[in-house]
Amino acid sequence: MIIVDHNDLQKYATVLKDVNAPIAERTDSLFCLRSFPGVDAIDVMIEAFHIEQFSDLLRHEICYCLGQMNNSPEHAAKIQDFLALVVEGNYPAIVTHEAVEALGNMNSENTERLIEKYRNEHSEIADMVNETCEVAKALVKWNKETNMGEDEGIDMTRRKFTTSDPAPPFNY
Ligand SMILES: [Fe+2]
Repeated sequence: MIIVDHNDLQKYATVLKDVNAPIAERTDSLFCLRSFPGVDAIDVMIEAFHIEQFSDLLRHEICYCLGQMNNSPEHAAKIQDFLALVVEGNYPAIVTHEAVEALGNMNSENTERLIEKYRNEHSEIADMVNETCEVAKALVKWNKETNMGEDEGIDMTRRKFTTSDPAPPFNY
C-alpha cells in the first residue's frame, strides 16, 4: 500500500516530470498528486502534461486524474480551462477522449458545448468527441430519470469510492 506524504508535493512532482523515470513510477506519483487537496498539485500535473512529448498513456492519465480533482470552484476553473485547451489542441484521440470525458463528468454544460461545437464536423476527433459526449449525456439522463439512482435503490452517498465516472455504479 502506498501512503501519500502530503507534506512533500515536490517529491512526487519531480518524479512525474522526469521523462527518464520509469512510467510505473511516474504513474504512481501522478496518482499520489491526485490525492493532494491544493491547487498546486493541479499546476504540477498541467506542467507535466506539457513536458511529456511521447507518452499518450501518461497524458491520458493526467487528464483522467484532473477530472477527479473537482474539489472547489477554484480547482474546477483551473481544470476546465486546461482540459478545454487539450480538446482544442492537436493531441492523439486517446488524450482528447479523456479530456472530453473529464469535462463531461465535471459539468454537463461542458458536454452540451462540445456537442454543439462538433455537431456538423466529421473527422476522427469529431466522431470520438461526439461518441464520448453521448456517454456523458446518457448519465445526465439516467441521473434525471432515476433521481440520482434513488428510484433504482442506489444511495449515492453510500458509495465506497468517490470517483467521478461516466456511468452509474452497479455494485457500490
Ligand atoms: Fe475514458
